[in-house]
Amino acid sequence: MYVFEKRACEIVALYSALEKHGVGTALIKKVKQAAKQNGCTRIWLMTTNDNMDALRFYQKRGFVIRNVRINAIAAQRQIKPIPLLGNNGIPIRDEIELTLLL
Ligand SMILES: CC(C)(COP(=O)(O)OP(=O)(O)OC[C@H]1O[C@@H](n2cnc3c(N)ncnc32)[C@H](O)[C@@H]1OP(=O)(O)O)[C@@H](O)C(=O)NCCC(=O)NCCS
Repeated sequence: MYVFEKRACEIVALYSALEKHGVGTALIKKVKQAAKQNGCTRIWLMTTNDNMDALRFYQKRGFVIRNVRINAIAAQRQIKPIPLLGNNGIPIRDEIELTLLL
């Protein structure tokens, strides 16, 4: 799922039901095509500090860390339920913004 805002494309959600078979890479390719066609100059997304798969996946595909919001999840827990522990038992704490210039 992605949205365009001005000249940026935000990946709101990227989910692969069958991991490590090229699905995620194919989805990124499609988003890049769509973003370029709509005149976007960058693609960006937010993930959390526990999501090592996403951090590896995106950085190996050209995305760079643009911002880290330390302890941002604490504020989000006030409005929606977010577990204390995430992937690999890592405490979910920070929001990490990744971006890819087109
Ligand atoms: C992050 C995510 C989208 C990646 O999707 P994916 O379908 O596993 O992605 P791919 O298969 O294209 O690539 C994943 C790895 O599998 C490898 N791979 C792809 N096809 C393969 C195959 N046939 N055999 C072995 N490995 C393979 C890729 O090389 C890649 O490794 P790398 O990242 O070290 O280069 C997926 O893990 C996911 O849905 N996670 C949960 C939701 C999430 O966290 N989304 C991101 C936050 S917004």
